Amino acid sequence: MAEKKIIGVLGATGAQGGGLVRAILSDPSGGFGARAITRDPASDKAKELAALGADVVVADIDDSGSLERALAGAYGAYFVTFFWAHFSPEREKAEAASMAKAAKALGLEHAIWSTLEDTRRWIPLSDGRMPTLMGSYKVPHFDAKGESNAYFIDEGVPTTFLLTSFYWDNLIHFGMGPRRDEDGRLVFTLPMGDKKLPGIAAEDIGRCAYGVFKGGDTFIDKTVGIAGEHLTGAQMAAELGRVLGEDVVYQAISPADYRALGFPGAEDLGNMFQFKQEHESDFCGARDPAVARALNPGLQDFRTWLARNKERISVA
Ligand SMILES: NC(=O)c1ccc[n+]([C@@H]2O[C@H](COP(=O)([O-])OP(=O)(O)OC[C@H]3O[C@@H](n4cnc5c(N)ncnc54)[C@H](OP(=O)(O)O)[C@@H]3O)[C@@H](O)[C@H]2O)c1
Repeated sequence: MAEKKIIGVLGATGAQGGGLVRAILSDPSGGFGARAITRDPASDKAKELAALGADVVVADIDDSGSLERALAGAYGAYFVTFFWAHFSPEREKAEAASMAKAAKALGLEHAIWSTLEDTRRWIPLSDGRMPTLMGSYKVPHFDAKGESNAYFIDEGVPTTFLLTSFYWDNLIHFGMGPRRDEDGRLVFTLPMGDKKLPGIAAEDIGRCAYGVFKGGDTFIDKTVGIAGEHLTGAQMAAELGRVLGEDVVYQAISPADYRALGFPGAEDLGNMFQFKQEHESDFCGARDPAVARALNPGLQDFRTWLARNKERISVA
């Protein structure tokens, strides 16, 4: 039997990387093997991946030596950073730079960089439509990823730039599900006006990434954007209402009001939603569900994802 091409997967115990590890392992004849990279191989999630057949290895993305050791001998790697673990675009850029350096030094044949738009290409810092944050960003967690594309290009790493979408799982894990208001109505709040938001089941990101690795050369040096479906807030509320068996009202608060909510990252996310609203056509256009479905034939639309996850959606 031909040797398997090993993919080193960062964030393997998390949403994006976990989906990729499971996709690789669920296709034993696909020619790929999964090396799950974690800081803690003793965690329950790491043990689950080992039980499925992943090779679990230790690295911290802030320790470039550990990253290189973890990726040695691999064919490819899935690179993702964890903005919400530290809220620092500077740190995210340093992490991406060391990922690109490691990929180059090790001669990896295919890297996927999980990226997002550098929104400053559409909204320069001088543009007063939204506040500049942290001195030099409009949407820090987007801009740092988009700016980091250059590390992979400059190092000459054979890279696919994967543009991800809003996880529908945020309705479960990020407190974005419907809430009951004072009048007893279920309200779904999203600062998207009447514009469409590309969304995806987080698990499908990894499955699409697996399709990218299988496609190999076809996707190297290309940008691939993925979404499960593009939906307005009103359409999402209607689907939520169907599955919860009760009307859900869509509340389109303004990005400015969202920025003022005061939780950590609220300004970043308010700017992000404003960018997505005001550049709907570019943002949706870059994420074609048909492309995602070709990579991952089991791609879920919102209705399918909701049907599978309705018990997990908390109604605050
Ligand atoms: N939420 C959304 O809608 C959305 C949409 C698009 C893009 N994104 C982006 O997705 C990224 C996060 O990806 P995710 O959601 O897959 O992450 P996640 O589910 O939060 O998982 C993160 C995993 O990464 C590992 N990790 C964290 N810090 C690490 C470090 N210093 N070194 C090595 N591993 C580390 C942790 O594993 P161990 O504890 O096992 O080490 C953790 O399980 C963010 O940058 C965010 O901007 C999010």
